[in-house]
Amino acid sequence: MKVHNFNAGPAALPQEVLQKAQAELIYYGNSGISVLEMSHRSKEYEEIHERAKDSVKELLHIPSNYEVVFLQGGASLQFSMVPMNFLPSHSVANYVVTGSWSEKALKEAKRVGKAEEISSSKAKQHSYIPHSSTIIPTEGAAYVHITSNNTIYGTQWHNYPKVNIPLIADMSSDILSKMIDVTNFSLIYAGAQKNLGPAGVTLIIIERDFLKRASSTIPTMLQYKTHVDHSSLYHTPPTFSIYLLTLVLDWMKNLGGVTAIEKINQKKSSLLYQCIDDSGGFYSPHAQKEYRSMMNATFTLLDDKTTEKFLDMAKKEGFIGLEGHRSIGGCRASIYNAVPLHSVEVLVEFMRYFQKTN
Ligand SMILES: Cc1ncc(COP(=O)(O)O)c(C=O)c1O
Repeated sequence: MKVHNFNAGPAALPQEVLQKAQAELIYYGNSGISVLEMSHRSKEYEEIHERAKDSVKELLHIPSNYEVVFLQGGASLQFSMVPMNFLPSHSVANYVVTGSWSEKALKEAKRVGKAEEISSSKAKQHSYIPHSSTIIPTEGAAYVHITSNNTIYGTQWHNYPKVNIPLIADMSSDILSKMIDVTNFSLIYAGAQKNLGPAGVTLIIIERDFLKRASSTIPTMLQYKTHVDHSSLYHTPPTFSIYLLTLVLDWMKNLGGVTAIEKINQKKSSLLYQCIDDSGGFYSPHAQKEYRSMMNATFTLLDDKTTEKFLDMAKKEGFIGLEGHRSIGGCRASIYNAVPLHSVEVLVEFMRYFQKTN
């Protein structure tokens, strides 16, 4: 049965990428072996590794004073690595709390040093994003941390705060879905398993000048500098995940790059939100209109029973992953880069049909 994958992560991968990976699985190029069996010090792997980095730089127009790094441990390890590297004991870190992931990031920072929430959308169930002009760092703060897209609540920053101290962003669920100006940030991190590829690799984009501030007393593996100095080959990287990342990035380039993908993403999200808005309250969105996410559309139906019926029927019709996160319930359609426009069209058709018959 043809299914439509709306999983929140790990999520849909482009069909072409899976096919290429399948074709190359047993023998990569002329190597006679699989990427899975290859030394990370081999010429073939190093070429894949460098190509992944170059493609990220090319796609996001990353200037030469930034480094691209591949780590493991997911975005969750970044919640700890960021303060371990960049929160000195005499300073304080500022967090903007717009959902569960920023709450977790703050919690981890507090384990490392002094960290505080400078703005939060919690009082309104994280249904909006604080206005960027209200984000004012406290005196002497080391950095401001934001979550660019709130995967669980379905909200997204459309205008990033402009602060005069380093800005750090968790972009796990919207990296490479739209063009951004990397120079607004001192550090960006993102787990791969939504827009970049399979789980197992975390992308870091870090400004070289900012890196100079990093602690040099923490364990070697937890220092960004270690991985920058060794081109992300200090230890064995997640080679197969990085290989798949190169395929996803090639796919993106073939589609016309980030700007082209952003247009498709706008089209997909407009279709879905239009359906919600046209439903006269049958589908009710969690996020306030101007903060809606282009990646995760969250909504509920009239009551729990109807929501359950909708999810049940959707599953039978081949729609996967439409359940909302266990912390807020309801429904969530994650429409990352690799979810085809066609899947969204079919979902919208189904939602209209379900409304008509219920
Ligand atoms: C915005 C955001 N940050 C962090 C995480 C945690 O990522 P990981 O499971 O890679 O640690 C997620 C996972 O869904 C996320 O959506």
